[in-house]
Amino acid sequence: MVRTDATVIDSAGDAWTGRAGFIAAAIGSAVGLGNIWRFAYVAGENGGAAFLLVYAVIVVLIGLPVLLSEFVLGTRSRGDILAAFSAPGAGRWRWVGVVATLVAFLILSYYSVIAGWACRYFWAYASGTLAALPQEALPAEFERFASDPRQTVGWHALFIALAAFVVSAGVAGGIERASRLLMPLLGVIIIVLAAYAVSLPGAGGGLVFLFSPDWSALRHPQLYLAALGQAFFSLGVGIGVMVVYASYAGNDGRHASVAAAVAAGDTLFAVVAGMAVFPIVFAFGLDPAYGPALAFVTLPQVFAVMPGGWWVATAFFFLLSAAALTSAVSLLEVPVALLARRGVSRPWAALGVAALAFVVGVPSALGTGPWRELTIAGLQILDAIDFVSANLLLPVVGLAVVIYVGWRLPAQQAISASGLPHALGCAWLLVVRYVAPLAMAVFLLTPALV
Ligand code: TRP
Repeated sequence: MVRTDATVIDSAGDAWTGRAGFIAAAIGSAVGLGNIWRFAYVAGENGGAAFLLVYAVIVVLIGLPVLLSEFVLGTRSRGDILAAFSAPGAGRWRWVGVVATLVAFLILSYYSVIAGWACRYFWAYASGTLAALPQEALPAEFERFASDPRQTVGWHALFIALAAFVVSAGVAGGIERASRLLMPLLGVIIIVLAAYAVSLPGAGGGLVFLFSPDWSALRHPQLYLAALGQAFFSLGVGIGVMVVYASYAGNDGRHASVAAAVAAGDTLFAVVAGMAVFPIVFAFGLDPAYGPALAFVTLPQVFAVMPGGWWVATAFFFLLSAAALTSAVSLLEVPVALLARRGVSRPWAALGVAALAFVVGVPSALGTGPWRELTIAGLQILDAIDFVSANLLLPVVGLAVVIYVGWRLPAQQAISASGLPHALGCAWLLVVRYVAPLAMAVFLLTPALV
């Protein structure tokens, strides 16, 4: 059932205060663990610079058009992801909304586990436990923490409770304000860290790794899928989060410039984070293909050797936790908004969905500890779910999104909702119709075929 407008507006106490608020919230959703934790380990496993190059091309050619497609869908839906997929005569497309909601939920379940790591590191620095450790003890310290189920599950619980709290309070005052305040601060700190990391003796290897492509890496079909998945994950597109966010914004005809700002900011953030991580990897003789814990074992090492490292570390992990919170909230908002549109009270919806996501996330939290031996295709539980979510589920659902926007929405309506001038709008629609779906299908299929 699609409710009447009156009901929708009633429960939409969660509108942004304006355009700036929408931009801040969208960047808050995009910038998160994906830019620091995930970018570092995926780029590290896929050869660095060659990956970065492919990644940048994919962000422009696929990520940005998909982001704008989600914004366009948002103008039609007022917070209801199912309504976004209900163009006349497109009944079965509602399933895309259902699947998108489930995937957002699944990602939230393990995202919260990693975010719990960030909160724990914040606490461990703030309380002084980590500051005393010598630089070379830090990788083992991470292992000790990650293998303790009380710690990983406990911090996971705490983080998801925080996310539920923010979502239950509605989004305008909370997320929007937090994003506006914290995101620039995190940006400043990551730049300071990168500048310091780059100045370390032996850092050059890290910059070469990140910026000087080893072209042979382009021969691995996995690289393209990894870059596609990372682009979707980091931008926060593919599963309708941006549909819901755009639906709280109204349409002032400037969605295209918001999309460009989000994509540019998000990518810049990841590159600078890479400049903080990889010089340390090389300066301290670590392996760039270390895996998902990479950022958590490298960055503490630079904190250990830099003057004032304790302060910087405390601030950094606080801001990283906050960035994760503004992203997790956006994932939680998709199922919660759906329930709230159907009569469940927002606080109960937030609490219920978060409790369920907590339970579903527990195996991921145990996977670095007691369940460490339980691997799927050689990956620990969290890594396996992360791989499947980002590299398969996001692009597959994203493919449905672009096909829907490109082929089911009336072209004129799509172009006018994009806010692009006519010629550019036509170009965008061409990309949405042909280029993006084709490229996505090829990247999805080649690793399976070769
Ligand atoms: N983009 C966020 C990050 O980089 C995570 C995130 C938010 C996300 N919304 C999403 C990931 C939607 C996938 C889909 O940390």
